[in-house]
This record gives sequence, structure tokens and C-alpha cells, in this order.
Amino acid sequence: MSQANPNPQTAPSGERAPGPDPVIRCTNIAKIFDGRTVLDDINLEIYPGETMVIMGGSGSGKSTSLRLMIGSMRPDRGSIEMFGRDICALNESQLNDVRKQFGILFQSGALFNSMTIAENVALPLQEHTRLDQDIIDIQVKIKLELVGLREHADLLPSQISGGMKKRAGLARALALDPKVLFYDEPSAGLDPVTSAQIDQLMLALTKQLGVTSVVVTHEMDSAFTIADRMAMLDKGRILKVETRQWYERLRDMPLEQVRGLPEDEQLIRQFLRGDADGPITARRDQSAFTDDLFGA
Ligand SMILES: Nc1ncnc2c1ncn2[C@@H]1O[C@H](COP(=O)(O)OP(=O)(O)O)[C@@H](O)[C@H]1O
Ligand SMILES: [Mg+2]
Repeated sequence: MSQANPNPQTAPSGERAPGPDPVIRCTNIAKIFDGRTVLDDINLEIYPGETMVIMGGSGSGKSTSLRLMIGSMRPDRGSIEMFGRDICALNESQLNDVRKQFGILFQSGALFNSMTIAENVALPLQEHTRLDQDIIDIQVKIKLELVGLREHADLLPSQISGGMKKRAGLARALALDPKVLFYDEPSAGLDPVTSAQIDQLMLALTKQLGVTSVVVTHEMDSAFTIADRMAMLDKGRILKVETRQWYERLRDMPLEQVRGLPEDEQLIRQFLRGDADGPITARRDQSAFTDDLFGA
């Protein structure tokens, strides 16, 4: 057993023991934009009730992978199963049925500014259900209570703070009692304290509601707080899918053990720690040098 393996108990592939079927299964996905491959050979399974954090640098393909999972884009290769159904084979109305089981909190998931917080949260219920308004009102109150915004129901988005807007977006994402929640950079633009509060809220909701969550982030404090498992994306490829504990051990591994690690793990370690030196910077310097030499 190699001493360099941060988690000798776990297979390097991060395989799990036989258990429940995955909620989401991505198999050999590739996505190509204008002839450029931005995601390649993505394999990822997400299990009921877990929080999977997809992390990676800017432009590594995190948001694209989320868009593929929610069916707002189709992959150029590979398949995506959601609750056992191949979502790429569904037409728009079938896809909408699947989407009712999702809650989505996107980076730009802006609220409608002309509507109160309560009206924003009510919107998915009005659009996708036939519930009477008085039932919708109760549902909205429950969701606002969950995120701690019940007293602010009648305010407009312009009247509340950034953290409260995220909470409101979360209440709206929860409106239809989703089985899966997708988050794209949930703490983007928030100060560290507010960001930590959103992390705690996400944790509490996951526990309380038993939802499966897929969270894209490049903020490591947040990732280590909320993740059960983590997937590291680098230039459109998944380098590793592992437990949070595995990533913690890699992050905290003493420097003298690091040199024995595979290049990928050294790269992940640099990312997790935010170190200035390491394979990520060496690669950047190298490609700048090559561009210089060959005039790219
Ligand atoms: N609709 C699109 N058309 C063309 N290129 C895109 C599109 N969306 C994303 N890209 C490119 O794909 C790469 C990955 O983007 P993205 O998934 O947004 O990365 P991340 O979320 O990790 O920052 C980037 O180089 C980006 O410019
Ligand atoms: Mg993004």
C-alpha cells in the first residue's frame, strides 16, 4: 500500500460499494463548442441524498456540466440518465416533467425585481401546479420559513441584501419540493460570513429534506463544508471523484509526501490549498513559453 495514497481505505477510482441506483449518471460525456472540446469523457454518478461538489478553475467546464445535467444543453457524445431515464432521448415536454423534480439556483438566478419575495417563490407553483392560491400562499410561507425569510415576504429584491437574495432564490428553487438541487457558485459575490451562512443553510436543508445536491464551486471553504463527495474538473476532464475526507487528507498531506504523488493529485492539491506554486502554475508558464516560441 503506497504511503502517498491519502486514503488507503478507498479505491483510487472512488468506487462505492453496491447500493442504491444513482439519481444522476453521466457516461462518457463530451461537449464541443465551435470545434473546441470543453468537456471530455466525463463519468460521474450522484447518489440519493448526497451532496456532490464539482470544483475546478474558471473555464474548466463546471457550469457546462450542470447545464447538461439539467437538460438545457445536449452532450455531443455520451449519455445522461436522471432517475434511470436517458434525458437526451426525451422531447421538450417529457424533459419538463423531469425538470419539475429539480430545483435550480444559478449564478445569475436573479429574482424578478418587480415582484415581492413571496411572489417570486410562488411563481413555480403557479406555473407548474394547479394548486389554489390559498394553498400556494401556505407553501410559500413554509419555504420562506425554511430559509429564514418569512418576515421579509413582502419586500422587493431591491430592498434586501445579497445573502437574503440567495436565500430567496433557494426558497424559489425549493418551491416544487425537488428531489435534486443544482447550485452554480452559490456563494459568488457574498462576503465570507454570509457565504458561510449560506453553506450552513444548504447543509441544514439537505439534512432536513433529504435532497440530492449538485454544487459547482471554486470556493474551497464552501466545498469542504458541504460536500459528501467531490469531483475535480480540470480543462474539461474529471481528474478525481472522491470523498471529502480523501480530499482533506490530500490537502493536509505533509510536503515531503507530495513529491511521490501522481501529477494529477499534485495539481489537485495545489488547487485545494490555493498555493502559488505547483503543477497548475508550471503548466501556465510552460504554455506561455510555448506560445511565445511558436507564436500561437
Ligand atoms: N455557449 C457557449 N458557447 C461557446 N463556448 C462556451 C459556451 N459556454 C461555455 N463555453 C466555453 O466552455 C468553457 C467552459 O465554460 P464553463 O462551463 O462556463 O466553465 P466554468 O463554469 O468552469 O467557469 C469555457 O472556455 C467557455 O468559454
Ligand atoms: Mg461557471
